[in-house]
Amino acid sequence: MIRSTILGVGSYVPTKVVTNDDLAKMMTTSDEWIFQRSGIKERRFVEEEGIGSSHLAVPASKMAMERAGVTADDIDAIIFATLSPDYDFPGCGVLLGRSLGMNGKPAMDIRNQCSGFLYGLSVADAWVRAGMYEKILVVGSEVHSTGIELADRGRDVAVLFGDGAGAAVVGRSPDDNKGLLSIALHADGAGAEDLWIEAPTSRVKHRITPQMIEDGRHFPKMKGKQVFRWATEKTLEVAREALKKADMTVADVDLLVPHQANKRINQFIAAKLELPEEKVVHNIEKYGNTTAATIPMALDAAFKDERIKDGDVVLFTAFGSGYTWGGAVMRF
Ligand code: UT7
Repeated sequence: MIRSTILGVGSYVPTKVVTNDDLAKMMTTSDEWIFQRSGIKERRFVEEEGIGSSHLAVPASKMAMERAGVTADDIDAIIFATLSPDYDFPGCGVLLGRSLGMNGKPAMDIRNQCSGFLYGLSVADAWVRAGMYEKILVVGSEVHSTGIELADRGRDVAVLFGDGAGAAVVGRSPDDNKGLLSIALHADGAGAEDLWIEAPTSRVKHRITPQMIEDGRHFPKMKGKQVFRWATEKTLEVAREALKKADMTVADVDLLVPHQANKRINQFIAAKLELPEEKVVHNIEKYGNTTAATIPMALDAAFKDERIKDGDVVLFTAFGSGYTWGGAVMRF
């Protein structure tokens, strides 16, 4: 049986560290409030204007390719997941391909927010198993700092997000007993406006009006408590579903690499699954929520910290705007 796997992973964050105390100078908030509610201490912001998600993806992709022992010439296709693309169109995939000298190779953008990396992984997996492409670069990259409202009006959302990128080279697993064992994806548009950016919008002539800007409708908005409820319920459900599809139980899991939206959500999931804390990767403290980038960034951190050994089973989970959510089980 052909299986796909992650052959190499990489990540990149901008150098500018923004602490909770830094944010408290821009809005009414505190380190205590942010840390207690979310587990975040600091995040990274791009150093200057002009840097987009496609730029952060370049060093992350190069690192992933180096770890996989391949060059850009060996990559057959790019899948780029982001909710903060450089441009409305074209997508970031073509920009990354251009930066990596991969002209002519197919590039696809995925708009699935925090679940974008898992949606991308599922497409790459299908391509590999179908024999369509051999090596696919799956990227999650975000620049949030230029799009959040760093003021009292936007403080509930602004304190949560950071900039960063993660990338993985997906290809055929050399060992058919290893690699992606299961993946489960879901979506429910019932909560589309619970976590969203309304403008620019094709529903309005010229896409955005001065009044919309005045009203702050171009900033992200979230019904925090509602999203929290959905996130805990659906993440738990999909974690169990992915394990069942892989014919496994929680006892088989060596490491949980979850989307990093809120440390409390991941602690809740781990507790419900009866997974001990040392089997959960948390890096939200340093980077905040980098949406599509959180999973490859956290996976990269787990490898750097030598938390994944040969043969280990990793459970991935994600939940985000849409709503969209997913889970996957991979044996490394
Ligand atoms: O990655 C996508 C998925 N996203 C998520 O999964 C996020 C899910 N939601 C959450 O993680 C939590 O809802 C938050 C961390 C966003 C917020 O925690 P909460 O316990 O739900 O707080 P809240 O929104 O109910 O706000 C509590 C209070 C409010 O004041 P009042 O009405 O009680 O007086 C807010 O106005 O905290 C206030 N508040 C703040 N205070 C200080 C909101 N934002 C801030 C802030 N600093 N930044």
